Amino acid sequence: MLADIFELATAAQAEGKGLGAFNVVVLDHAEQFVAAAEAVGRPVVLQVSENAVKYHGALAPLGQAVLAIARDAAVPVVAHLDHAESVELCRQAVELGFNSVMYDGSKLDDATNRATTAQVVDFCHAAGVRVEAELGEVGGKNGVHDPSARTDPHDAATFVEATGVDLLAVAVGSSHAMTTRGAALDNELIAAIRAAVPVPLVLHGSSGVSDEGMVAAIKAGMTKINVSTHLNKLYTAALREYLAANESVVDPRKYMGAGNAAVRAEVERLLRLYAGQAA
Ligand code: G3H
Ligand code: ZN
Repeated sequence: MLADIFELATAAQAEGKGLGAFNVVVLDHAEQFVAAAEAVGRPVVLQVSENAVKYHGALAPLGQAVLAIARDAAVPVVAHLDHAESVELCRQAVELGFNSVMYDGSKLDDATNRATTAQVVDFCHAAGVRVEAELGEVGGKNGVHDPSARTDPHDAATFVEATGVDLLAVAVGSSHAMTTRGAALDNELIAAIRAAVPVPLVLHGSSGVSDEGMVAAIKAGMTKINVSTHLNKLYTAALREYLAANESVVDPRKYMGAGNAAVRAEVERLLRLYAGQAA
């Protein structure tokens, strides 16, 4: 069933658990993520990024499928728009029926980001839709998603107060699109932001964090855990291996099936890890 991300994240935070959020690039991903969540008995966030929307040419085709899969699921599922730099795309997601959006104003100066985020919060809340956002120009060579970028707890608190966001993405040492898992998170900073900010915290670029690192970060106060590249890496490796071993196969259900199975198994494992369940 479609569920409220703020309620899920707040409950997870109170229990010291993480809420898994995985990027849906193609329809199969949404099916596998929900199947994995049902197998584990945990909620899951299906997130469609602005980049995935650009790849498909529009939000509606994949977005409708995500909504249908979410509504049919036996566990709570969130239909979330990820990293939307376009306010218009946030509006489209709301109209389509998504119940959560991330407005990404991280490339903007602080004042413009705050004003635009507050505007997105206004129309989203009027429609019962939750909003995740992040601070602008936090620092680091490549902006907020550079591993050296750090969110200041006081700035984070004033940002949440000024904008009314429901979840806050923070810069604590992770970086997007890492294909190795050696990122070192600043758990003291996570705990300090957790203490200063009244809403659940979001970690982007979680692919670069080890299992142990993620368990420690959740313990320190991180809640929504965004993973994409790590799953894409496993999906592609399984597909490559299948195609290399089955050169005559032309049915995409066969080779994509191999990728799907790999992704589903790993999402099950990650959801158990984030929930503190034994494998
Ligand atoms: O918003 C999506 C995530 O931050 C995914 O990042 O591909 O580095 O896991 P990742
Ligand atoms: Zn991200």
